[in-house]
Amino acid sequence: MDKNNFSTNRLISIDDVNVEDIYLLYQLTNDFKQLINRPAKKIPALKDLTIGNLFFEDSTRTRISFELAQKRLGADIVNFSASNSSLKKGESLNDTIQNLLSMKLDMIVIRHRVSGTAKYVFDKTKIPIINAGDGTNEHPTQALLDLFAIWNKGIKSSEINLLIKGDVLHSRVAGSLTKLLDKLNIQYSITGPKTIQRKTWESKYVDSSTMDLSQFNILYNLRIQKERQHKILIPSVEEYSDFFGTKINQVNENTLIMHPGPINRGIELDSDSADSNNSLILEQVETGVALRMAIMYLLGQQKREA
Ligand code: NCD
Repeated sequence: MDKNNFSTNRLISIDDVNVEDIYLLYQLTNDFKQLINRPAKKIPALKDLTIGNLFFEDSTRTRISFELAQKRLGADIVNFSASNSSLKKGESLNDTIQNLLSMKLDMIVIRHRVSGTAKYVFDKTKIPIINAGDGTNEHPTQALLDLFAIWNKGIKSSEINLLIKGDVLHSRVAGSLTKLLDKLNIQYSITGPKTIQRKTWESKYVDSSTMDLSQFNILYNLRIQKERQHKILIPSVEEYSDFFGTKINQVNENTLIMHPGPINRGIELDSDSADSNNSLILEQVETGVALRMAIMYLLGQQKREA
């Protein structure tokens, strides 16, 4: 593969990748998906690199997915989580980062509850950074893996009509997904209680509580993110579920059900839809490892060339 094709040395936002980058990333994701389904799942592509996983906010799926991807590529890993770090002793983010850099990290994966943190750390360090979710801003690897999982089902861009449902206001997943779909001219709408929508996406809004959903072939469910809501924005989760929760009787033969996880069964979707054959949720998770391998592989090449 031509080493110079990937145009960016970071993935902080979907803005960092162009359409060619996305196709290159997906070609590699495809290769790595095959690799991780073989008995010998590892290649030593990143064996000379040390990657720091800086998780200042809780995570299960994303953290494990990045870590597994790094192990499959043979990288050395340093794991940092805020709950057992010197941040608890009053150290600033900047000092933490400077200390970690003195230990010669080559790449950083970062999750933080404050929007803009990934960009801040990149500006300070200039080493390849992958944003694993910053506040309510972006979560680019999630959006990229979601679209790969859709295409992998044999659905072409022109056939997609996706409905994003739920707490869009606090969702960094929606922040990245809408940018990715816009970049590739893919059709989508957004729904949910008006109190948890964003003004910027007003033109995409539909009231799904009163409409037939059969025109949409993908229902993308978002979690009600109570931990990011600083006031009461919906009357109750039960009412949310009644009006906006995905129910199996709304799901046609060809409808795909998606969710970035963690899912709250019975709130944003019922168990019958989460566990149905229409659900892509576990494939999203599987794709995540391959896609993260692909992005770290490409950024690793950039790092060596720098
Ligand atoms: C998402 C996140 O943390 O932004 N989860 C994930 O990364 N898979 C969505 C969420 O928390 O609801």
